[in-house]
Amino acid sequence: MYEKLKQTCDFIKSKTSSVPKVGLVLGSGLGAYIQRIENQTILTYEELPNFLPCSVEGHEGRLILGTVDGVEVAVLQGRLHAYEGHSMEQIVFPVRVLATLGIEVLVLTNASGGINMDYSPGDLVLLSDHINLMGKNPLVGPNISELGPRFPDMTQAYSEEIIQIMKESATEIGLNIKTGIYCSLLGPTYETPAEIRMLKTIGADMVGMSTVPESIAGNHLGLKVCGISCITNMAAGIAKHKLNHDEVKEEALKVMETFSSLLTKSMKKIKDL
Ligand code: HPA
Repeated sequence: MYEKLKQTCDFIKSKTSSVPKVGLVLGSGLGAYIQRIENQTILTYEELPNFLPCSVEGHEGRLILGTVDGVEVAVLQGRLHAYEGHSMEQIVFPVRVLATLGIEVLVLTNASGGINMDYSPGDLVLLSDHINLMGKNPLVGPNISELGPRFPDMTQAYSEEIIQIMKESATEIGLNIKTGIYCSLLGPTYETPAEIRMLKTIGADMVGMSTVPESIAGNHLGLKVCGISCITNMAAGIAKHKLNHDEVKEEALKVMETFSSLLTKSMKKIKDL
């Protein structure tokens, strides 16, 4: 695995001299953020050694290196999900590549279903913590000590400093941003109303099918991790209608402008941490 990481990084370094400081994973419907990136080098997952292509609609499958407000970034436009049948190791491989390239901060974004009744579709919510109900963990197996410790601490899986920065930036752009606990399930089915009632009882504010593996890998690597969720729908049983992926993509697209402004405004402050 470690050899594969080095091989992929060597390939990327042969294509660009950029040394990214901030890594960004763009979730469902949020891929359009790449319009904000300057001096782009675009590499498709197909051409990157050891990367797997994305199969989910709304996930492009490209790595973009460039700058946002002068900050060097590496952006994964599209991610792999466990419900596609990928192993946890495959899912977190791109994040490990970014860390090997030099990122210190990892910003994870996703679309999720709102459980907390204070949320509405279109809200952006900062992850304060997560609950892993995927039944899997990317660190299972021999520990790769070059990457991190056997038993990583998860007390502050989402950096309090970055949450504060994001909140400040949100205020500056007139956005009322919320915080909450993200629960990840394996999917690909959306949840049943009974499952949503259970998730509410155990303290989840929103639910999705991603992010937690990358967050665990990021913490293992010692990165400062931040999570931003776009509430694309109220969760099953709370929403009066049935759920579908088109609604998720459409709602995410609607908040693109706000989401992009928030990220761009925060970038310099995050880099200077
Ligand atoms: N459940 C799980 N994943 C999701 C949802 C949801 O309601 N909305 C967007 N991703």
